[in-house]
Amino acid sequence: KASPRLRKVMGSLIQHIHDFARENEITVDEWMAGLELLNESGRMSNDRRNEGQLLCDILGLESLVDEITYKLVADAKDGPTSTAILGPFWRKDAPRRKMGETIVFGIESGDRTYMHGQVIDYRTGKPIEGAELDVWHTAPNGLYEQQDPDQPDMNLRGRFTTGKDGRYNFYCLRPTSYPIPFDGPAGKLLQLLDRHPMRPAHIHFIITAPGYKPIVTQLFDRRDKYITNDAVFAVKSSLVMDFLPYKGDPKADFELAYDFKLASF
Ligand code: DHB
Ligand code: FE
Repeated sequence: KASPRLRKVMGSLIQHIHDFARENEITVDEWMAGLELLNESGRMSNDRRNEGQLLCDILGLESLVDEITYKLVADAKDGPTSTAILGPFWRKDAPRRKMGETIVFGIESGDRTYMHGQVIDYRTGKPIEGAELDVWHTAPNGLYEQQDPDQPDMNLRGRFTTGKDGRYNFYCLRPTSYPIPFDGPAGKLLQLLDRHPMRPAHIHFIITAPGYKPIVTQLFDRRDKYITNDAVFAVKSSLVMDFLPYKGDPKADFELAYDFKLASF
């Protein structure tokens, strides 16, 4: 038996999709072209490629539902860390690493960065013990590890668990801007719309902790030229960061300090 929510949502979808077709006088040929785009995106998709998600993302849909979902979570102005879209490149079971370790392997280029901070309760400011920080970003060539046969498996990914002080720290790279994969329907659509495929430099995170609402987010580099022009509309001002020069540590030239703020259930 259909749930009330499903009934409501599908009724609304059908209404809007019919209005869309009527308003634009969509012809059979145009509908077929759209259908072919969807079918091609299905054919392309696999474990390593989520073309349907890319299509949604360039239309701003993942970003919109992220914002809607976040509004339900955030109950205060100085609230928890803002969320941002998951994107198509998260992998489950990233390696667990010890605090202070690096997530960079087999890569010589790129700006080494020391990232550190605390995971705290946004209401009380108290550190959260046992919070898991799952992090992933691209290599300087703009590719995530699963897109790039030259990178070791699970490169530039890691999971870190906080101790009593809620602190975390690890080494990564200062990320670079890069194009979303544009060799499929999403790329073709961008081209037809005279749009670029670039995303501003970012690092992805999922922060979870017992008793707290999980946060999926990204941190962005203020100096990136695409910071105001993200192909998938994910940038939020509170997530734009300054990477600062870092002296006295042979393992890093930049520093990124950030405290993740979580909301308890
Ligand atoms: C998308 C998101 C990303 O974080 C990324 O690296 C590439 C693409 C996306 O939303 O499609
Ligand atoms: Fe990304």
